[in-house]
Amino acid sequence: MSITYDVAVVGATGLVGETVLSILEQRNFPIGTIYLLASERSVGKKIQFQGKSVSVENLQDFDFSQTQIAWFCAGGSTSEKYAPIAADSGCIVIDNSSFFRNDFDVPLVIPEVNPDSIINYSARNIIANPNCSTIQMLLALAPIHREVGIERINVCTYQAVSGSGKAGLEELAKQTTSLLNAREVEVNVYSQQIAFNVLPHIDVFQDNGYTREEMKMVWETHKILEDESIVVNPTCVRVPVFHAHSEAVHIDTAGYISADEVRTLLAGAEGVEVIDSPQTQEYASAVVNGSGSDKVFVSRIREDLAGNNGINLWVVSDNGRKGAALNAVQIAELLIEKYL
Ligand code: A2P
Repeated sequence: MSITYDVAVVGATGLVGETVLSILEQRNFPIGTIYLLASERSVGKKIQFQGKSVSVENLQDFDFSQTQIAWFCAGGSTSEKYAPIAADSGCIVIDNSSFFRNDFDVPLVIPEVNPDSIINYSARNIIANPNCSTIQMLLALAPIHREVGIERINVCTYQAVSGSGKAGLEELAKQTTSLLNAREVEVNVYSQQIAFNVLPHIDVFQDNGYTREEMKMVWETHKILEDESIVVNPTCVRVPVFHAHSEAVHIDTAGYISADEVRTLLAGAEGVEVIDSPQTQEYASAVVNGSGSDKVFVSRIREDLAGNNGINLWVVSDNGRKGAALNAVQIAELLIEKYL
């Protein structure tokens, strides 16, 4: 008989939790029993999984010793409180929040980039899923870093509202409808109107003037590539796009690499697809390519005009899939393949 795992999805009624469920189905993850957990508000709600109706249970009362793996998709404060409880009862937590990412004894894993770092998972029984913007950027940059070394990364992100969960999607949809009907907009989720606007503000401002989202890209790049000498210079921007983040990335490399060589290198990289034909106006965009896809798309590959060792790239991916749920499921696949 094939081995199966009893698993839990925390935040199963949320955007990332729902995506985890659909990816588990699509990839035929070997599940025995699945427990769907959320807040008291959702108890008794029914969710379809593999053709069966499963009732949502209250996270607060759940006994994690019944499970081997749990995906936490309910935000930082829920992870802070409940992930250690799950981990202490023997369940391996794959956490989507940023709460544990910088802890030295919690692996921060992108399976295509640093799969071996998962080896230390048992120190805490918690594995952290990186930030969505970091995941897609490093899928594109890790092969270049391995080839010639990256010294500096300048990145500007164009991030979809799905990064703020269902509330973000609703905010953009409602504000857009209001404006098109000449009504006042209501601002609830972001500090200003997001419909027909662009906000250089994601997560909270830090003392150094950067936002926490920007600092996540710095800290997580250093941890995942195991190289604190790489200068990461980010600006994170929220745009009125529903799904999929885009990033304009400029890198300074230690050695010379041509745009053609980068194209060839990335064409062979796992999880990456190059769409880059300026002659036929082919490039990736959030709506056409990113949304709903499991890949990281790279376009507009160009050499630095100053003739330095530098490359520009445009990187697009679905933040809810490779940036969150898919990466988290792939971590579990890696775990069961190598360690369980
Ligand atoms: P609920 O639907 O019961 O509020 P999103 O990011 O799309 O907003 O989803 C957030 C997810 O996290 C939802 O599934 C939500 O459940 C869950 N959640 C939020 N707060 C808690 C909590 N305190 N305990 C358990 N689940 C929570």
